Amino acid sequence: MRQARVLALLLAAAGALAAGACVDQPATQNGGTTGGGTASTGGYQRKTKKAGEPVYIGFSMDTLKEERWQRDKALVEARAKEVGAQVDVQVANGNDAEQTKQCDNLLTKGVDVLIVAPHNGEIAASIVEKAHAAGVPVISYDRLIKNSEPDLYVSHQVVRMGEMQGEYALKHVPKGNYVLIGGAPTDNNALLLRQGQMNKLKPGVDSGDVKIISDQYAKEWKAEEAQRLTEDALTKTKNNIQAVVASNDGTAGGAISALEAAGLTGKVLVTGQDAQLDAVQRIAEGRQTMTIYKPIKPLADSAVDSALKLARGEALNAPDKINNGKIDVPSILQEPQAVDKDNLMATIIKDGYHPMEKVYEKVPRDQWPKTTASDGRKAGGLHALAAALLLFCGLGLALRLR
Ligand code: BGC
Repeated sequence: MRQARVLALLLAAAGALAAGACVDQPATQNGGTTGGGTASTGGYQRKTKKAGEPVYIGFSMDTLKEERWQRDKALVEARAKEVGAQVDVQVANGNDAEQTKQCDNLLTKGVDVLIVAPHNGEIAASIVEKAHAAGVPVISYDRLIKNSEPDLYVSHQVVRMGEMQGEYALKHVPKGNYVLIGGAPTDNNALLLRQGQMNKLKPGVDSGDVKIISDQYAKEWKAEEAQRLTEDALTKTKNNIQAVVASNDGTAGGAISALEAAGLTGKVLVTGQDAQLDAVQRIAEGRQTMTIYKPIKPLADSAVDSALKLARGEALNAPDKINNGKIDVPSILQEPQAVDKDNLMATIIKDGYHPMEKVYEKVPRDQWPKTTASDGRKAGGLHALAAALLLFCGLGLALRLR
């Protein structure tokens, strides 16, 4: 009995310790302050807001070209509204000088924090420097800003995404001719994806089973570039290609156009990333093989919530670290998921990322999956009911035994 009490006390103490470890450090330990004013942080004097004062966020985006960025914009705006912050969004449309100018303007307007999804990770370093000189912290969004000292990086696990693409391809096409299509070489994500893809493809390449016919990057993540690269590989091999590892859905779409023109629709494995609508429709039709699903809401929420903390000089809860060539940037990285025709229902549709009617729009109705999107939820409900019943019976039994 005494032993049991001692054990219980020990467990409680361990629990309290663990809980303490999970809670953010007090702000002052990070050089922050909660009283408003300035604080010396990460080598610059950061302006801080008093708790309760409204926070003004500048969100500098490279592009709205891919569907996902439109979600990012809408979700950042929605979260800011929810937490009572003001957000000013600027889109540079792939132009570095424009992005720098827009950030300068945001600083002049007096933003408290800058969230930057950079077009060019190297060039954006100057944005971080100018922001810091003005006492404004910077969050690097989705893409890493290199060789500078951003206060935080929020993204998904990008190397892991590349690994998922490579792993999937090798599992389904263990032997054959491969085309690798990277994204914009100015985007650090494109390089990380390639690193991940090669981590998984290497054994196949080393054994000689996988032959890489072409290994290039599509400028500006352009579908036309991906189409051209695929056409070249098809010509070079006389249409003997078994897999295209495309780094996102846009480039996958370009590669698929080339495959279609060669009469190879659905016969060559094609990877992607983003789970954008046209890509998941192609997956439902059997024209694209897989994509990587990266829910955007947790990313957008983490950016806005952290922006508030930075503006108020509170400590961040950033469990990861990514080196950007200058420092280990504190990072919050969300988990991606591989999606193909077998789990479209259980992932994208179940989460409401795209409605089933849209995903299967181009598939004849009699070929739609038999289950409905709410099945997952229904099954979850049934499990909960069964668990509650079991608990109820167990309690009843225990009371009778007393
Ligand atoms: C993003 C992808 C996007 C690509 C092109 C990457 O940095 O992570 O989601 O498809 O840029 O915009």
